[in-house]
Amino acid sequence: MNMMEYMLHAHADAVLLTAGLAKEFKVRGYPAILMLKKDVKYNYSGPRTREGILDFANRVGGPLVRSLSSLQLFQHAMDRHDVMFVYVGATSPLKGNYTSAAEELIIHTYFFSASRDVLPKVVSLPSLPAVVVFKDGAYFTFNVERDGDLKSWINRERFQNYMKIDSYTLYAMGETGKLVLLALVEANSLCKESLRYKSLVEKVSSENRETYSRHFHFGYMEGGDYIKGLVMGEVTLPSLIVVNLSNDGYFLPPGAMETERHLLDFLDGVLESSIECQGGNSVHQRIRRIIYDIQVTLTPLISQAPLFGCFLVGFPLAIAIFFCYLCRKARSNMSEDDDEGDALSAPSPQSRKKLSDKKSD
Ligand SMILES: *[C@@H]1O[C@H](CO)[C@@H](O)[C@H](O)[C@H]1NC(C)=O
Ligand SMILES: *[C@@H]1O[C@H](CO)[C@@H](O)[C@H](O)[C@H]1NC(C)=O
Repeated sequence: MNMMEYMLHAHADAVLLTAGLAKEFKVRGYPAILMLKKDVKYNYSGPRTREGILDFANRVGGPLVRSLSSLQLFQHAMDRHDVMFVYVGATSPLKGNYTSAAEELIIHTYFFSASRDVLPKVVSLPSLPAVVVFKDGAYFTFNVERDGDLKSWINRERFQNYMKIDSYTLYAMGETGKLVLLALVEANSLCKESLRYKSLVEKVSSENRETYSRHFHFGYMEGGDYIKGLVMGEVTLPSLIVVNLSNDGYFLPPGAMETERHLLDFLDGVLESSIECQGGNSVHQRIRRIIYDIQVTLTPLISQAPLFGCFLVGFPLAIAIFFCYLCRKARSNMSEDDDEGDALSAPSPQSRKKLSDKKSD
């Protein structure tokens, strides 16, 4: 509550909403956090942490594109942001595209603009205007021939090349249409093998950026709970997995992952479809998922509170049976009516008998 008040004070023209109004604004998934600013609603999709939410409010509440007027400001922003998009140059059609991309993607990342002389001399830009992303200790310039649509490029590039990934980040990464290679490691103290997996993924991601960053996000995830739900089974830690969030599919390495070569072969195998995609969103898998979800929800409940658990299962079941009964009854009544009214259909011996019964009445 305090936080919400703080935000209302901080941004007089923006309002932060939480779950209560969710239905009215048609948001999927709880708890929903959205912010209204000049009648535009912004849906927060990041991690549910204090820092994450405050950063979101600060981002959306401020200017869409923040101007960096000096080298000091640029350096300051660089220190604070792991990934930073900067428009460089005067007003142009590209600036229009940049601003309209910012309108949509400000919920995920900050947008800056600067003149050429503000950027450090070492940054070389082939031409102006330009859009540059600074991340992973390097910078990458948008190239319309190579990268296509600016908004899609920003959406693909807004993650660090290798990073810690939680379930919210994973979901957001899925929206870019790329696959995600994850090192699954323990939540707290890491064993030697976990550290090896992490550094293997980090090394491969940074050394093969050109080849794989178009298709993959890379990172590590702590704990196996989220992936357990995706694969609907047990997950060994540490391990490697590639997930396709577009269809809930996943790929497991065919053998031991000892060297970079093994990992590169795994990634190639996924791209060339020589490694089988498991899971997915076929009807069969969806039914399996529903059953799995019910199982996962009910098992701890029934073991902790058996009576309440039985009620929870039994009550809807009883209602369902009652409705079935009502439907059957209604249908049998209706078919009797049909038989009486429908002169064209040949009456069955049974209904003929009924008719004659009625006549004799
Ligand atoms: C800029 O926006 C226009 C209009 O939406 C679009 O046709 C064009 O492809 C965009 N250009 C880039 C580089 O994204
Ligand atoms: C990931 O899923 C999408 C949507 O079903 C599909 O088009 C794409 O080919 C999949 N990628 C791989 C590598 O299987």
